[in-house]
Amino acid sequence: MDVKALVSQMTLEEKAGLCSGDDFWHTKAVERLGIPRTMVSDGPHGLRKQDEEGDHLGINDSIKAVCYPTASATAASFDPEMLRTMGEAIGDSCQHEKLSVVLGPAVNIKRSPLCGRNFEYFSEDPYLAGRMATAMIQGVQSRNVGTSIKHFAMNSQEHRRMSSSSDADERTIREIYFPAFEMAVREAQPWTVMCSYNRINGVYASENPWLLTEVLRKEWGFEGYVMSDWGAVSDRVAGVAAGLDLEMPASGGVNDRKIVEAVRAGKLDEKLVDQACERILAIVYRYLENAKPETPWDKDAQHAQAADMAAECMVLLKNEDALLPLDKEDEIAFIGEFAEKPRFQGGGSSHINAFKTTGALEAAKGLKVTYARGYSVEKDEASDMDIAEAVTAAKKAKTAVVFAGLPDSYESEGYDRTHMRMPACQNKLIEAVAEANPNTVVVLHNGAPVEMPWIGKVKAVLEAYLGGQAVGEAAVRVLFGDVNPCGHLPETFPLKLEDNPSYLFYSGEGNTAEYREGIFVGYRYYDKKNMDVLFPFGHGLSYTTFEYSGLKLSAEKIRDTETLTVSVTVKNTGSHAGKAVIQLYVGDRESTPIRPVRELKGFAKTALQPGESREVAFILDKRAFAYWNQEIHDWHVETGVFTIEAGASSRDLPLRAEVTVESTAELPRHYTLDSIFMDVMADPKAAPVIRDYMKKIMKTFAPEEEQGGTEAAKEAITEEMNMAMMQYMPLRGVFSFSDGVSAEDAEEMLKKLNN
Ligand code: NOJ
Repeated sequence: MDVKALVSQMTLEEKAGLCSGDDFWHTKAVERLGIPRTMVSDGPHGLRKQDEEGDHLGINDSIKAVCYPTASATAASFDPEMLRTMGEAIGDSCQHEKLSVVLGPAVNIKRSPLCGRNFEYFSEDPYLAGRMATAMIQGVQSRNVGTSIKHFAMNSQEHRRMSSSSDADERTIREIYFPAFEMAVREAQPWTVMCSYNRINGVYASENPWLLTEVLRKEWGFEGYVMSDWGAVSDRVAGVAAGLDLEMPASGGVNDRKIVEAVRAGKLDEKLVDQACERILAIVYRYLENAKPETPWDKDAQHAQAADMAAECMVLLKNEDALLPLDKEDEIAFIGEFAEKPRFQGGGSSHINAFKTTGALEAAKGLKVTYARGYSVEKDEASDMDIAEAVTAAKKAKTAVVFAGLPDSYESEGYDRTHMRMPACQNKLIEAVAEANPNTVVVLHNGAPVEMPWIGKVKAVLEAYLGGQAVGEAAVRVLFGDVNPCGHLPETFPLKLEDNPSYLFYSGEGNTAEYREGIFVGYRYYDKKNMDVLFPFGHGLSYTTFEYSGLKLSAEKIRDTETLTVSVTVKNTGSHAGKAVIQLYVGDRESTPIRPVRELKGFAKTALQPGESREVAFILDKRAFAYWNQEIHDWHVETGVFTIEAGASSRDLPLRAEVTVESTAELPRHYTLDSIFMDVMADPKAAPVIRDYMKKIMKTFAPEEEQGGTEAAKEAITEEMNMAMMQYMPLRGVFSFSDGVSAEDAEEMLKKLNN
């Protein structure tokens, strides 16, 4: 379709109208020109297609659909291929249901364990989030259905989400909050982007030209349309100018009229309205011209797929005495209402009307499994009778498995948690069961970290996250060893909430949320501070063991325009087939900017039979070594030695090597007399200039013979001390104390320094 030609035939009113939704879920039709409306629908981990009454908070019903594991879980798979497959399945369902765009994936950073929507987000690490989102987008879009990567940007809390300003420095935004969006845009070109509710450094995302145009389009090359989150528009005219193409849902025509008036008054260039319409229609027709409503939607097959995926995501956090896997011949007690009715998704706009759900109890049919409810989710309590029954069941069984975690009301879109604890009744139950049976396992259903006061009393913990409608089947497979757990934590579990780097500032004061911890989010903080954590980023056990060896680099030294190939060999040294997740971290050994100790820059998941080994290769480019330089507003690599570490988690890195990376980009020099001596001396091009004058300078600082310095003075002030004293001085200080350096000398020096 020639959308330009189409737009040229539209009246200003029609164009302004097209820039907002027809209703909750549709773009507008322009019947006069034969432009039909198209439907979008929530995701991200399945369809929330609303037939009747629309709402954006998951309140009203939607069609029966398949609930795949939520992002909290899928990130733990460390398996982008799995996300691609999930995307393909969701794309097929969209084709079947005539949906042009599925609203997701959501890639906001899990800055604090408290964010109510953490279950919808992938990780505390932007690289991991980016890889997962990219794969999912590629999967959905391979079916000619669009995605809407969201919420752009810095929407890491629900508290006051529609008014709060997420304030951070440029480097923090670039290094932590942007990369997942950036990677997905550059590599997967999502059809649409959804801007967030919040403001960024004071400016609403929905009217932020830097965000929506400068960065998103000009830098990253985004080609689709930007839609607002539902109700995120404040000043619609400013939004059009900034690059917000589609307002969702609609303003009852109010904002459309404002666009028309602004154009008529000469306050808004009509070309910008044309441009928004062209972008919207390009996507509308991209879908329409490839629509395939005859695509089958086999929900049962997808349920089976969702079960496989949920198993792939489970993280075995602890497994003392190899308590797991359980023996199918043994008598096992399942305890806790979540065994019967698992919590498998979170509340809000992503809430899916699952066509069926399998709890662990049902999935364990045929095995010697007994059940005690343990607690009531609805009442958030464990009665004495509940506890007594649980203890009896635990005592009779070989092993007790407590299904626990966070109830729906604890984690939802729209508000944050206020603490990191599990319900007191569940903690009490776990303690009681562990007391009754030393072989106690805890299976957790939650979308973000929880405190585990009982961790020393139970032998095993399996983190199931919010694993989708088939999570119960997956849990049983993993518990009984049909599947070897292979998930790894996409986030750190701190010992307590207060340890989290955002703790002091979360969730801000009034409408200001300052991201004061800067780039030190998650493990970047815990590692820098060398803090104990409950479970580190990347952690995940297996029923087998893996050995990492043979770390090889393709070069000892590269330039930042070249790539480095890193290879690692991993071997299955245990007796079960299993999957290893090899993680690669890069750190700048010594750097001028303050940087994390290590950052994830590569990972790979690989299946290995017992005894089998495989070499895995990673390619690192400039970005793996760079930091965001706020002076040049660009990525920069500081010349120097970088550490490359590989292993099974951020705190289990048996392999280490070093590479020297040489920068090919020069930072601008603007030395003045106020420049600090040590900074000039650290610059390999500037230092020789100063050194030429060193004799004159040192005349004052080094008490040499000719200066009449005594032996005692000479001993008191060594050259080293001299340099140490001088290092923090501005050049003017150094020169003024050196009577050998004239004003002309100084001027000449500056010229040479800045040449
Ligand atoms: C608000 C949510 O923030 C967003 O993720 C969702 O897609 C829209 N509502 C539509 O329901």
